[in-house]
Amino acid sequence: MKNPIKLLVIDDDKSLLIGLAEALRREGWYQVLTADNGNLGIQLAEKNLPHLIICDLMMPPPNGIAVLQTLAKNPVTAAIPFIFLTARTDHEDKLTGLDLGADDYITKPFSKDELMIRVRTLLRRKDLTESMERSNSEEEINLLRAEIRNIMQSSAANHNQLAEAMIQMLSLRDSQTEVHVRRVVELSNKLARELGLGEDLIQQIYLGSLLHDIGKIGIPDSILQKEQALTDEEHSVIMTHTSLGKLILQPLGLAPAVIEIAYYHHERWDGGGYPEGLEGENIPLPARIFSIVDAWDTLTSDRQSQNSWSQKKTIAHLREQAGRHFDPNLVESFLAIIGRESKEKR
Ligand SMILES: [Fe+2]
Repeated sequence: MKNPIKLLVIDDDKSLLIGLAEALRREGWYQVLTADNGNLGIQLAEKNLPHLIICDLMMPPPNGIAVLQTLAKNPVTAAIPFIFLTARTDHEDKLTGLDLGADDYITKPFSKDELMIRVRTLLRRKDLTESMERSNSEEEINLLRAEIRNIMQSSAANHNQLAEAMIQMLSLRDSQTEVHVRRVVELSNKLARELGLGEDLIQQIYLGSLLHDIGKIGIPDSILQKEQALTDEEHSVIMTHTSLGKLILQPLGLAPAVIEIAYYHHERWDGGGYPEGLEGENIPLPARIFSIVDAWDTLTSDRQSQNSWSQKKTIAHLREQAGRHFDPNLVESFLAIIGRESKEKR
């Protein structure tokens, strides 16, 4: 059997567990893992990343709700479809379970046929969502996805490691990327702190800055690595990197600001940017922050160092573009940081 669908069944009632597992296995295409307590269930879920979990609600602690809560906190297991088994009297808990993100519930006693239908429906829904998000245009994106899946299967996986691996992959295509990325990550972090944003958002901006140009992985080498000026047509291909970035990042369940930076970092305050031509504060704040930082680093650190602008010239440019390309308030906050840093260096 190639790539069987993995199901995890968690129930403290051992005879029900055995019967259920056997019924599912008899369907022929399921590999069934079983756990007779919540802790073992959590361990098996994290280690094996099943395609779907069926879990009893009433168990000695941790009960089904606690299992769901634990798995929901872990980015690796949060998206696994989850079905509750409940007794008729568990009405309150059933609602709590659904509220916490369970996908479905089945009331005991249930028929095996009913369970099979629910399992198949949920798996089909998950499959459909995934294939809608799949791009068939870029082989690289598929390679990237395979890499991401590998990383997510390692137990120590977290979003930062994921982002690092993605950056390494992009660096294979575009060697200049990594140095630029490290610098903008640091600068956007400083600007976010200067603005007094909360730690959560600061962390999201960190990840977004790291991954801002990840969509470039889908741009052909002949354009991405071209040294001469780009033709209009080539430029319009480059411009698709923001949409490709969103396409890559969206299925990963990353925080909104991460995707906002990838998708909107080429918007302009005056509405003349891309991909949406948003104007002013309609552009999400993380993207407005990032676009200033990105411009600063691009202008002061050109690939050919003789083309780099001086700090003085770049400051004048940012001021001149405040209210045109950039959010004027953010330009002032950013220049305050640059001013302090150059004073410290003196
Ligand atoms: Fe970009």
